[in-house]
Amino acid sequence: MAQINQARLQKYPSVSDLRQRAKNRLPLIAWEYLDMGTGEDVALSRNRTSLDRVTLLPKFLKGEQTQNTETTLFGRTYNLPFGVAPVGLTGLIWPNAEQILAKTAAQYRFPYCLSTAATQTPETIGPLLNNMGWFQLYPPRDEHICDDLLQRARDNGFHTLVVTADVPAASRRERTARAGLRMPPSITPYFIWQAARYPAWAIATLRHGIPRLRTVEKYADATDIRNAARFVGERFGGTLSWEYLKRVRDIWDGPIVLKGLMHPDDAEMAISIGIEGIGVSNHGARQFDGSPGAIELLPKIAKQVNSRAQIIFDSGIRSGLDVIRALSLGADFVLAGRAFMFGVAAFGADGGVHVAEILQADLKTNMAQLGVTTIEEIKQLVPSAD
Ligand SMILES: Cc1cc2nc3c(=O)[nH]c(=O)nc-3n(C[C@H](O)[C@H](O)[C@H](O)COP(=O)(O)O)c2cc1C
Repeated sequence: MAQINQARLQKYPSVSDLRQRAKNRLPLIAWEYLDMGTGEDVALSRNRTSLDRVTLLPKFLKGEQTQNTETTLFGRTYNLPFGVAPVGLTGLIWPNAEQILAKTAAQYRFPYCLSTAATQTPETIGPLLNNMGWFQLYPPRDEHICDDLLQRARDNGFHTLVVTADVPAASRRERTARAGLRMPPSITPYFIWQAARYPAWAIATLRHGIPRLRTVEKYADATDIRNAARFVGERFGGTLSWEYLKRVRDIWDGPIVLKGLMHPDDAEMAISIGIEGIGVSNHGARQFDGSPGAIELLPKIAKQVNSRAQIIFDSGIRSGLDVIRALSLGADFVLAGRAFMFGVAAFGADGGVHVAEILQADLKTNMAQLGVTTIEEIKQLVPSAD
């Protein structure tokens, strides 16, 4: 179990402190891959500014109160109303990030979602999760690969499936292009020169080996990331349709979250084919620079869904207060991607716990400020967003 370092928490009390430290420790290629949006990063700042615009009115004189952060989603109880969003090519950011965050999730009892494009397999990560595992599917073209992936996820204890809707094609990702990251990634002299200037990252990476897309390399018949990444590009992209999703719905016997929805019509379609989770997200602004701030989408989608499905929000979450903002605007649960990865890049094996502590403390403190004691009470708050 990773230990909580109180002195370090005092020194780095917010996710923005971890972001800064991560930036100082990662080679440009890895940093840009983690931090980037797409285009001119307008949607990335819009995610932040639109969250900041959401304000809430506290009520006082409630006497002594204790905050209970437990919540139930799809019939399972979690200690906290947030979890770790799926992150692909994770090992480029920090080796064994998946193991670190899976153990954090098991320790705090919140979900960890493993990406199809992660650098570890369901077989390795599943046993660490103690029932906290969600699996994210990038839909493969070949049905037998799809079936096998779902079977592997199920066999290794992942009970909730997240199907990513918002990658109809790869985005351009100008910042990583400028930094020299090629897809598939390759070890060029420039890459080695960059890596050498960041010894903590370079040593950790050398110790664990160059990252590989281990989950999919089985199908690509390749342990070489170049071939596996090319395979993902050719065989996993642009396939998702309502017909495809119906087939996945028929095969998967647990809850499904359709992640990346922005339009109420898509939410309606998803509900009509039996999807239990509507994932409101703009992929952390990494796909479409013309998208609204993701939080702006929540009220309309919540109105459309009208409690017929659970709403899972992500994109821009950096604090417990952000979690409260999303819950008060209609989300039932929240995921964070970069926040957790900033922690791991900043503090390696202790980074996941550090972020969990920040988010948990900030959530409880702000619940106290607002005079609410449960997640249900947060959902009853009436925010304003002027
Ligand atoms: C480095 C990185 C890689 C990502 N890879 C995936 C992925 O493989 N599958 C997926 O569905 N979403 C992926 N996402 C999107 C996240 O799941 C999530 O939607 C996003 O990070 C939320 O925004 P936030 O980072 O501001 O919390 C990735 C995000 C980042 C930052």
